Amino acid sequence: MQTTSAAQGAGSTELERFIEGMNGLLARELDEPVLLQQVANLLKGLVSRDDWLPEAFARPHPRFYQQYLLHADPLARFSVVSFVWGPGQETPVHDHGVWGAIGMLRGEELSQCWRQVPQGLVMDGPPRRLRTGQTMVLSVAAGDIHQVSNAFEDRVSISIHVYGADIGRQRRHVFDPGTGVAKEFVSGYADVAGWRA
Ligand code: FE2
Repeated sequence: MQTTSAAQGAGSTELERFIEGMNGLLARELDEPVLLQQVANLLKGLVSRDDWLPEAFARPHPRFYQQYLLHADPLARFSVVSFVWGPGQETPVHDHGVWGAIGMLRGEELSQCWRQVPQGLVMDGPPRRLRTGQTMVLSVAAGDIHQVSNAFEDRVSISIHVYGADIGRQRRHVFDPGTGVAKEFVSGYADVAGWRA
């Protein structure tokens, strides 16, 4: 089985250490709220310095936000992704179907939560701004529908995401915010030019 890992490909010891930490946490079979807290702590360490992400996994696209796979657990228990926002780029409204943790490596992003109501979808509170070095968590139990955007119109932002599944292969949903109609999608991963496992 091919295990895609930027840690192996680019010799990033910070990412290797993070993956080791994740394996240690998952071996403890913690309840999800405790696990999420621990994953966020680990992720906070990873994004506390910005000198380890290989350039190939930090490249923006002129039109689309990029989701580069940094590590896929061979048992699909978790995946680690770099999310690269070009200026002003944003996701559709979407869910995840699994737990997630986000750590801001470079720049800032905005996350607007949405909630399902009988009439469709409504915004759930004000957008949350995630600043460099900060983390946030997502859980299905707490409601995991949101829309994320680069907080900046004039520069790239990058966040590191950890999910409780191989997120690029996970069946989940995008929503029409006007009608609330959900459509199934599988996001896949962006191609990493010039890097081979
Ligand atoms: Fe998301």
